[in-house]
Amino acid sequence: MTRTAPERTPFERLSAISARSGLDLEKVDPAILERMRLLAETTETVRDSERAADLAEEIFRYYETLTPPERFSSLERRTVVIGTLFSDIGKSGPADASVDGQRLVAEMFAVENIPDGAVSVGAFFGVYFRSNASDRVRRFRALGLDPEMSMREFWNLHSVWTLQILRGDGVPPQAVSAAATHHLLENVNPHSMFGTDSRLMKYVQNSASFGRPEKLVILLDKYEAARRRSHRTHDEAIAWLRQLVQAHPRFCNDQDFFSLIDGLDAVIEAGWRPLTSSPSH
Ligand SMILES: [Fe+2]
Ligand SMILES: [Fe+2]
Repeated sequence: MTRTAPERTPFERLSAISARSGLDLEKVDPAILERMRLLAETTETVRDSERAADLAEEIFRYYETLTPPERFSSLERRTVVIGTLFSDIGKSGPADASVDGQRLVAEMFAVENIPDGAVSVGAFFGVYFRSNASDRVRRFRALGLDPEMSMREFWNLHSVWTLQILRGDGVPPQAVSAAATHHLLENVNPHSMFGTDSRLMKYVQNSASFGRPEKLVILLDKYEAARRRSHRTHDEAIAWLRQLVQAHPRFCNDQDFFSLIDGLDAVIEAGWRPLTSSPSH
């Protein structure tokens, strides 16, 4: 199946994907779009999200064709695609970060496959940015953040930053929830958005449910990370996703998750999408 012709810049590609889901990027806060530009030039984040969104569209077509009763509604599709595109925007730092602070954080996220997430941010700068580590520590502090925190704590902050950045800025609220909860499987739950039942109580009008679209956003993000960042094969990535859900105290019996993983597996196995999605990076 051929994709649409490649658009020139990351922004144009993003516009095209958003438009197919009914989101006009012109209506999104320009500051958010600037962050997307920064991430596109600094990190792999935007390309990862684009691939995940492409894959989402193929999953919709697959369900529509093979299991029509389970097809995704247009609201669900919009939630998945837009949630996927914006889920990692928090990798550009806190909502109130200066342009310099945004760049600092984006450059930190650009360093991938760090063997030990327990290492402190200060030590990370010392190893990966040796020539100007102390200046980066200063800039990190200027964001109100503690360089003694571990890298794992730092990485986990991006979900809450995503939530802060997207709230009320032209991105549909369902997609904001989906984006902000995209690391729920790792128990990253910004501002306890996800309560004891399956509603997202905070920040969302009429408390959107945590349902199939939000789960697909999580799975697509993790699948792309497994393939590109961790160099897993397709089969390994699918097995890893199943294990993650099986091992989760809350979601271990969640049939939505398992059938979505089956769907993802089937879409790729059936050749709806080439197996080698990874760029040489
Ligand atoms: Fe993420
Ligand atoms: Fe991600």
